[in-house]
Parts: sequence; structure tokens; C-alpha cells
Amino acid sequence: MKTLSLFLTLTFLLSLPMFLSSYILRPSTYLRRGNIQTLTLTMSLHDTRNEETFESYSGNEREEVVDEVVKKKKKSVNTARFRQHVNPLSSRYQISQIHPNFLSPFASPLPYHLDIGCAKGTFVLEMAEKNEAVNYLGLEIRKPVVEYALDRRNRRNLSNCHFLECNVNVDLLKILKGIKKTSSALRTVTILFPDPHFKEKHKKRRVVLPQLVEELAEYLEEEGIVYLASDVKNVLDDMRATFRDNNKFEDMTGNIQEYLEVNLMGVPTERERSVLKDGGGVWRAGFRLRK
Ligand SMILES: C[S@@+](CC[C@H](N)C(=O)[O-])C[C@H]1O[C@@H](n2cnc3c(N)ncnc32)[C@H](O)[C@@H]1O
Repeated sequence: MKTLSLFLTLTFLLSLPMFLSSYILRPSTYLRRGNIQTLTLTMSLHDTRNEETFESYSGNEREEVVDEVVKKKKKSVNTARFRQHVNPLSSRYQISQIHPNFLSPFASPLPYHLDIGCAKGTFVLEMAEKNEAVNYLGLEIRKPVVEYALDRRNRRNLSNCHFLECNVNVDLLKILKGIKKTSSALRTVTILFPDPHFKEKHKKRRVVLPQLVEELAEYLEEEGIVYLASDVKNVLDDMRATFRDNNKFEDMTGNIQEYLEVNLMGVPTERERSVLKDGGGVWRAGFRLRK
């Protein structure tokens, strides 16, 4: 009897934190009848990939969202709208996201530019506006970020620009084959500030791996260009070394001690803007596919 009551007490105590986190800390718990229109909150306490949308509350359900939500979440709605990093090695990112006809949003069969790790698409959108004779395709692993980029594209009414949700280390080959099928050339590739995983222990999560370089070498047009940049010197050096190891690519700056001085694309990415604004440095390298 004594053992049973001890067991029950322990079970209760152990399950209490789970109960607290799944009920009391849930934003919906704090919602009183609200005036709120749509509030998208990233659920960081549970599955951080899930976004919960609270649609308009009507009739009796019109009052204010309680202060707790406003205070706790108002700030974070903008800043933590998107989860900062995901682990590309986790099983959920090993599943292909590329569907047949994934290039159908492009209006014309133009040469392609691929931007790997495009995030919210600022760079891709600006490039597409500047160069109507190129199809710009941004690849990004975080689904909500891709949805946001697509929304921006739609508002600008661009037909030479598209974004795909994918893990490039899983789906790149499929994408390259799809481009080849259109008979349009893959002219340029950018991999810009790609790695939140700059720590040595997370090296395996990085985007630029020998296989990715080999796949690009196979599908890029002759003399096609790959432009790389990072604000973390080690990351750029690492990407550059992986490209240099593949003898189908030629480093534009022969000397390993030298870096490109200018942005080859002429348009800064969001990350680049913020690094430069804060007085940080940017390391750049360019590669040309040998004939
Ligand atoms: C630091 S951000 C840089 C974004 C943008 N290129 C810029 O310079 O502003 C790196 C982006 O690459 C994405 N990313 C990282 N690993 C990826 C992968 N394996 N496949 C697709 N996207 C990836 C991240 O989700 C993130 O949005």
C-alpha cells in the first residue's frame, strides 16, 4: 500500500511539468474572447515547426487577448516568426519535397540561376526584378520561410522567380535534372551565407559537401559560375576548399590567400546587408566550370 501511494505520488509529480507546458503555457489558453484578427505564433514549447493560427473570433468571442499573450508574444511574433535554424540531418528533412512540374510557375524557358539557402528571398526577388532574362530559383529548407518568400513574389507579380521548400542535400539532383529537362541552361549558382552551422561540431550539417559540388559540376553550363560568400571566414574557406577539390571547377582567384573583393552578383543578400551595416567582414569566392 505504502509502495503504491509512493508510486502514485511520484507519477503525479513527474507528470506535472508536462501538464504545465502543454496546457498552461499554450498560447491558446491565454486567449480570451478576442478582437484579434489573425495571430500566427511559432510554438516553441512543442513542435517548433508547427504554426498555430488563431482566426478571427466573432460574436461573444470578441474581447481582448489577455496581457500575457500580448506581452510575451507580441515582441516574439515579429522576431521569432520563423524558427532560426533547423537540423538538416533530422529525419523529417530527408524526405524529398520536389513534385513533378515544380518549374511550372516560370512563365518562359530562360536560363536559370539557383540560389541555395535563399531564406526570405530578398536577394532572389531583387535579382529577378533586375534581370528579366533569367529565371531565378531559390531553395530553402524552412517551409514557413518559403511560404513567406512566395507571398512576396506573388505581390510583386514576378514570373521569372520561384521558391522551393527542400533540403538541397536531398533534392538538388532532382532539381538539376528538372532544369535540364526544360532544355534551358543552368547559368549561375549562389551559395550565400548558407551556414548557421558554423561550429566545428556541426560541420556535418553544412550545405557544401563534395556530392553537392559534383552534382553542380555535372549540370552547370560550360563556364557557368558559382559565387560563394560568408561572414565566417572558416565557412567560406571550407566551401572554397570543397570546390577546389573538384577539378571541374576553376577558382577565380588562383591564390588561396586572395578573396574576391566585390559581390559578383551586384546585389547584396539580407545577411550581407546586416553584416556590412554592423561593420563586419565578408569573404567571397567565385568558381567557373572548366570547359
Ligand atoms: C544564414 S541564412 C542566409 C540566407 C541568405 N542567403 C542571405 O544571405 O541572407 C542560411 C539559409 O540557408 C538555409 N539552409 C541551411 N541548410 C539548408 C539546406 N540543407 N537546404 C536548404 N536550405 C538550407 C537556412 O534555413 C537559412 O535560411
